[in-house]
Amino acid sequence: MTTTPHRSDPLDRLAYEDRLRTLSEASVEHHFDAFTDISWDDPAYAVDPTDRRWRLPAEDVLGRTEWYRSLPEAEQVRIGLYRQACVTKVGLQFEQLLIAGIMNFAFALPNGSPEFRYSTHEATEECHHTQMFQEFVNRSGQDVAGGSTFFRATAMLLPLVARRYPHAFFWGVLAGEEPIDHLQKSVLRAGHDTHPLLRRIMQIHVAEEARHIGFAHQYLEHSSARLGRGERFVLSLLVPVVMRWLCNEILVPSRKARRDMGIPDEVMKEVYWRSPGSRKFLRDLFADVRMLAESAGMMNPLSRRVWRLMKIDGRSSRFRSEPASAAA
Ligand SMILES: [Fe+2]
Ligand SMILES: [Fe+2]
Repeated sequence: MTTTPHRSDPLDRLAYEDRLRTLSEASVEHHFDAFTDISWDDPAYAVDPTDRRWRLPAEDVLGRTEWYRSLPEAEQVRIGLYRQACVTKVGLQFEQLLIAGIMNFAFALPNGSPEFRYSTHEATEECHHTQMFQEFVNRSGQDVAGGSTFFRATAMLLPLVARRYPHAFFWGVLAGEEPIDHLQKSVLRAGHDTHPLLRRIMQIHVAEEARHIGFAHQYLEHSSARLGRGERFVLSLLVPVVMRWLCNEILVPSRKARRDMGIPDEVMKEVYWRSPGSRKFLRDLFADVRMLAESAGMMNPLSRRVWRLMKIDGRSSRFRSEPASAAA
């Protein structure tokens, strides 16, 4: 049976409001501007498309394949730059729909809502992220389209959900933010010879995403107590499906991207997501989300089966951002 969290007592409410205030104050104290906090014209940040530092790191499931590793270095560099520009483009498209959703969400909030201030800080930060990401894509010189044709055709409908079903919307937010954040953190932790421009962008992004993800977790945990039994049950089945869909949009190259990078069909099948290594990578991406789903009462026998069906089941994190190696 689904466990229903009880978080509606006044003390929980005060603690929740306090956490949102802390997040808001942190946004005032530490925030980044896409054009004053990155020295785009610093010669060290120049994008040279032949720079070997564009090669994909092993943290990228495509980058660790035998196929990729056996390509000539120039080809690894070409694909690496394209791939990183492409993921950046999908990331910014996702952020555009997030900003639109936050506006719909905030539009419906009554006066005095603790969520108003923090969610609009988040939208401000996401605007800077879209500028920063688009500037990187422009400077990369890569003609990337971002998500799949289906995603680009339907993405702007998703923000409409935010006003009537904010709870569902913030699960969708996590579906986009967690995979990108997980990937960027693992690249930064590994300390590879990443191009300094990309490293700077990732550092800024990871710093601000920590707050965004923190807010989504807080909001979902807090508001889950207000869900009706039926709504909770339907949502518990939808969450893993949405997680997997949006994760695929971000990580799996679209048809055009596949063509532009020249990835053979069998490599595509192997990497997304047939090989044991990539399956583990996919499951690890959602360890924090599984932890939240447990505490928000979204895990029941049927929903666990859907998580398994979507291939994103597994052990939950013990705390947020627990590295996969520590969990193992
Ligand atoms: Fe962002
Ligand atoms: Fe974000």
